[in-house]
Amino acid sequence: MNPPAARLETPVLIGRKRDGEELAPADLHALVEGYMAGEVAEEQMSAFLMAGVIRGFTDAEAVALTEALHASGDTVDLSSLRGPTVDKHSTGGVGDTTTLVVAPVLAAAGLQLAKLSGRGLGHTGGTLDKLEAIPGFRVALEPDEMREQVERIGLAVAAATAELVPADKRLYALRDVTGTVPSRALIAASVMSKKLAGGAEHVLLDVKTGDGAFMATREDAVGLAELCVRIGEAKDRRTAALVTDMSQPLSDGIGNAVEVAVAIEVLRGERPGRLETLCRELAAAALVLTGRAAPADAPAMVDELLDSGRALERFRDLVVAQGGDPGVVDAPREVLPAAPEIIDWRPGSGTVTAVRCRELGELAATLGAGRRRKEDDIDPAVGLELLVRIGDEVADGQPVARVHARTRADGERAVERLAALVTLGEGDVAGAPLVLERVGLPATGEVR
Ligand code: URA
Repeated sequence: MNPPAARLETPVLIGRKRDGEELAPADLHALVEGYMAGEVAEEQMSAFLMAGVIRGFTDAEAVALTEALHASGDTVDLSSLRGPTVDKHSTGGVGDTTTLVVAPVLAAAGLQLAKLSGRGLGHTGGTLDKLEAIPGFRVALEPDEMREQVERIGLAVAAATAELVPADKRLYALRDVTGTVPSRALIAASVMSKKLAGGAEHVLLDVKTGDGAFMATREDAVGLAELCVRIGEAKDRRTAALVTDMSQPLSDGIGNAVEVAVAIEVLRGERPGRLETLCRELAAAALVLTGRAAPADAPAMVDELLDSGRALERFRDLVVAQGGDPGVVDAPREVLPAAPEIIDWRPGSGTVTAVRCRELGELAATLGAGRRRKEDDIDPAVGLELLVRIGDEVADGQPVARVHARTRADGERAVERLAALVTLGEGDVAGAPLVLERVGLPATGEVR
């Protein structure tokens, strides 16, 4: 069979974007449709993306691109749910396990979450890989099964099927290899097309900024958050965003089983720290966004859901519903796979003055917790625990990090590398605040 004839107008559209013109929605739809139909070649789409990254896109173009990506596939139909339905999305980071805590808190508050999650790639982890560290946990749910589960227990976390936003899957892979990921409009269209396809009425975004995030500067992250909120509102979804710090890992765990263990410890009230604080902030924001709580009351409601154990019980319901071993809720470290070699790193005394967040994520991936390529297998048991934060005082002999490795040699190599990634020095240093900005949301009362 001959390939479909290339569209004559494609070079003209690329040239117009190269010259900084705004393209009409119909042109952007034609480009995405043509690409999916094989009429716009990979090199043409690459050239268009690069022209867009350099010249920028207007808001109207970002909305049109979102619509075009969304229109390439199905939308999950959540209309049979009682609601309110809510989706929570992070733009990705290191030790970012908030879904495992926030989703059960919100389900316990009577909200409904049908969460479509992804796998880790590069230095960032993925919720599906983390949940699969729980023995027996299934992430492949049919749409009907997912809806039934959400109606029954308030939450489900599953893999997005190939039919959802296929244009984003292809374009994201192309952007990854053509240096065209860092565009505000392209990232916003990629994120928001998936949120539209996920079907929830409310969308809460956690836009990360700092060394471990896609948006390195606060200004870029705020711009991305504002654009996503404008796109969501233009498409009739109540959308808000928190811009949060990713200049150091969020959780003490980096890896799959270790992150699940830490998240369960947060749900059990046994692990105070940055992850717990951000989970409280996100849950409170979602309660306000959905109208479940007034801004001043939302933190107390989150406290009650966590302290009473109701959120932990929702997590247990999730594990049982998706075939996992519920014993993980009571004794996470006994049930989750454990690495054969655990080595503590004790570098001496000083103040933690700097942490190379992205490289800590890469180090965990090198141990086997992440993938180099999409088709790679991961090792759920391996990873790191970072036991300090920027500004902490470390005493001589105190463990600063714990390496969970498959072999002694892997573990020792990781320990050697850690010395370049966590700096001990002198002086009064403070890490960045966790929540840097709220977009589309009033301030809530103070979280604990
Ligand atoms: N996350 C996404 O889903 N898409 C992007 O383009 C970047 C981060």
